[in-house]
Amino acid sequence: MAPTIHFQLILFLIISLSFLPLKLCSTLDRQLDYKNWISWNVENHRKEVKTISQLAAGGSDKSLDVRLRKAEMNKVRISVSQDRTGDFKTIREALDSTPLYNNRRVILMIKPGVYREKIMIPRTLPFVTFLGDSSDPPTITGNDTASVTGRDGLPLKTFQSATVAVEANYFVAVNIKFENTAPHEIGSIGGQAVALRISGTKAAFYNCSFYGSQDTLYDHKGLHYFNNCFIQGSVDFIFGSGRSLYENCYLNSIAKKVASLTAQKRTNSSLSSGFSFKDSKVTGSGLIYLGRAWGDYSRVVFSYTFMDTIVLPQGWSDWGDPKRDSRVYYGEYKCSGAGSNITGRVTWARVLTDEEAMPFLGTYYIDGDTWLLSS
Ligand SMILES: *[C@@H]1O[C@H](CO)[C@@H](O)[C@H](O)[C@H]1NC(C)=O
Ligand SMILES: *[C@@H]1O[C@H](CO)[C@@H](O)[C@H](O)[C@H]1NC(C)=O
Ligand SMILES: *[C@@H]1O[C@H](CO)[C@@H](O)[C@H](O)[C@H]1NC(C)=O
Ligand SMILES: *[C@@H]1O[C@H](CO)[C@@H](O)[C@H](O)[C@H]1NC(C)=O
Repeated sequence: MAPTIHFQLILFLIISLSFLPLKLCSTLDRQLDYKNWISWNVENHRKEVKTISQLAAGGSDKSLDVRLRKAEMNKVRISVSQDRTGDFKTIREALDSTPLYNNRRVILMIKPGVYREKIMIPRTLPFVTFLGDSSDPPTITGNDTASVTGRDGLPLKTFQSATVAVEANYFVAVNIKFENTAPHEIGSIGGQAVALRISGTKAAFYNCSFYGSQDTLYDHKGLHYFNNCFIQGSVDFIFGSGRSLYENCYLNSIAKKVASLTAQKRTNSSLSSGFSFKDSKVTGSGLIYLGRAWGDYSRVVFSYTFMDTIVLPQGWSDWGDPKRDSRVYYGEYKCSGAGSNITGRVTWARVLTDEEAMPFLGTYYIDGDTWLLSS
């Protein structure tokens, strides 16, 4: 604990010294700031991501979900391989072999290959992990769109277009490529084609990639964590009502004209949903808004993120509804690159202060201390 705090103290001193000439604050204010800062850091430190070995070591972890802890300590592994060397040939079969109301972590070790499967993990199958090989991640692919006719004879709609849909809680994916190959035609209707929909809460994605065009990643609802992920799309390619932290992610636009990277849907000021992007990169083709307001109270923050020239100077869109200008929360903090120039931004975009940015900058934003494990 001590070395981290020392390091943070030094960092704080460097930062505060470099800001001193800009700030006219009384000694009292500064002492208060300092005290707040220390308690925030100590608090933060306690909320550090826990390792599985720490869990196994004993009951000191009161904060972690009890069910999750039990599930992690009773893991089962099953393998999926298209060459018949695994326990199952398809992901579907492997999932079907898992008992409903499963209470153990079930790790599907998915061997390299292209899996053309449409997968839905129901709420009754929590604690599922998709684990691929980092040197050759498996691809799960499909090409359904919102306008494709479903089994009931009706259009699937965006929700059902997903190649992989996760309704279950505590889902984890590592080294997996999620894909929807349906192209987006400008002006077409019903072209929404989701690669992954995550509707369960407490889900984590490490080293994953998401390939699609319109509506690639449906970050539907719940608490989600994305680390070292690649996300590609054209229109609204990260959208939904989730409360999610994206760290160290590569956001690649393939828009041909003007589009929006995110469409965050927060419909009510009392809801805690929102997308936070940290230490990420925004690049690709076309001209993009960082976000457009799907819900009246849409909330998106970018921090420490590199933004290429493709970002429109205005930055953000109210989707043609001016009443949203005073309701949305669109913030930027310490971003870099030509696209991060705030000179042309809409007047209702926010350049966040240190204090305003803080709630979005760590895994505590998604209550990580109760469920996030380092793999
Ligand atoms: C994730 O990818 C990095 C390379 O970007 C690799 O070094 C690391 O081992 C991968 N993590 C896992 C859990 O496979
Ligand atoms: C989707 O893929 C299937 C199988 O490859 C193909 O038969 C079908 O034509 C594709 N649908 C569209 C709309 O591209
Ligand atoms: C927001 O949501 C809360 C809780 O669901 C509800 O009580 C409240 O009426 C909602 N407010 C608006 C403006 O819809
Ligand atoms: C930001 O954009 C304005 C207007 O285009 C320009 O004058 C200014 O030099 C830019 N600032 C930086 C740091 O590039």
